[in-house]
Amino acid sequence: MSKSILVTGGAGYIGSHTVLLLLQAGYTVVVVDNLSNSSEESLLRVSRITSRAVKFYDVDIRDYDALERVFKDYKFDFVIHFAGLKAVGESVNQPLSYYRNNVEGTLTLCRVMNKYNVKSIVFSSSATVYGNPDSVPISENFPTSATNPYGRSKLIVEQVFQDLYVSDSDWNISLLRYFNPVGAHPSGLIGENPSGIPNNLMPYIAETAIGKRDKLSVFGGDYNTHDGTGVRDYIHVMDLAEGHLKAIDFLQESKGLHIHNLGTGKGYSVLDMVNAFSAVSGMAVSYEIIERRSGDIAECYADPTKAQKELNWTATRSIEDMCRDTWSWQSKNPNGYSD
Ligand code: NAD
Ligand code: UFG
Repeated sequence: MSKSILVTGGAGYIGSHTVLLLLQAGYTVVVVDNLSNSSEESLLRVSRITSRAVKFYDVDIRDYDALERVFKDYKFDFVIHFAGLKAVGESVNQPLSYYRNNVEGTLTLCRVMNKYNVKSIVFSSSATVYGNPDSVPISENFPTSATNPYGRSKLIVEQVFQDLYVSDSDWNISLLRYFNPVGAHPSGLIGENPSGIPNNLMPYIAETAIGKRDKLSVFGGDYNTHDGTGVRDYIHVMDLAEGHLKAIDFLQESKGLHIHNLGTGKGYSVLDMVNAFSAVSGMAVSYEIIERRSGDIAECYADPTKAQKELNWTATRSIEDMCRDTWSWQSKNPNGYSD
């Protein structure tokens, strides 16, 4: 019998790409999502690409009773937990909403998992838990800190998992610290679908290229980097999704609590991304360098050695792949899933 996986937040950007690979790998996949930042259309398209069904529940993970009904319907082998809010700026203005969704939601999920004796989970953490690192590349043993409520919610949840594991070593926990996910499935059928004005660089570049935005504001041209603009570790969402399947394999052989960076180990600047996107898409991307964005750091990229060694996982897709697949998604779906 195929193994069953509950995917929280599976209708979202990273979730939908991971669900696609899980289905292709033969898992039975059940998604719970409250659609607060997504559309069920993503899952319909995943079904279309894979010719496999996804069972979907429109459930808020803070709703214990509704979650329990899902656990009564299925005996899960694993949970992959993507559900949460992720906008840094919004978290500063709405901290309670972030703690409720990200912390309380995770606590409720873990309580139901405990009750149904499902104790294997992969959690979406973030490179944001490294705060303002002293050096790059960043490895998993670097000190952690938070500079905003979103980052703090991720750190708190990581600590909750550490405590849970200390209290009960039957739990198997994989904390995956993602760097900067970009790109889309090569079919152009699923991708990142931000509502309103994008906060993140890559969707902003793509919307500028297609004419929805006049120009990109580049936040800061005076950082101590090769061209003065901020450097990040952009990782193709398909590489990231593959990392989740590897994390599940690893949890079955290596019980315990594990932390892995999922990044490429390469840093690209804002202008590197703009130039690569223009070259791949053939579209001009107008930009203007303005003042730094508060809270941003100059450089952030991973040391991915631990994930390479332990998970047997490496990001293989290039910056050109990231730009090509983003453009394919953006140009085929100028208004995202509402097209
Ligand atoms: P996303 O917003 O596209 O996906 C999150 C999904 O969770 C959405 O479909 C949303 O509707 C759902 N959701 C939110 N709150 C919920 C709740 N209370 N109950 C049920 N469903 C709920 O975001 P994403 O980019 O796919 O991110 C997935 C995870 O990865 C998040 O936890 C995010 O914090 C983390 N992460 C993302 C990035 C990034 O840059 N995209 C970087 C590091 C970590
Ligand atoms: N940037 C611009 N203009 C924009 C948007 C971004 O110049 O309109 C720059 C930023 O200053 C930064 C780089 O592009 O140098 C990347 O910015 P993003 O907002 O795309 O990503 P961040 O690195 O700031 O943060 C992202 C997620 C966080 C997550 C972090 C690490 O938004 O949630 O990656 O995983 F914590």
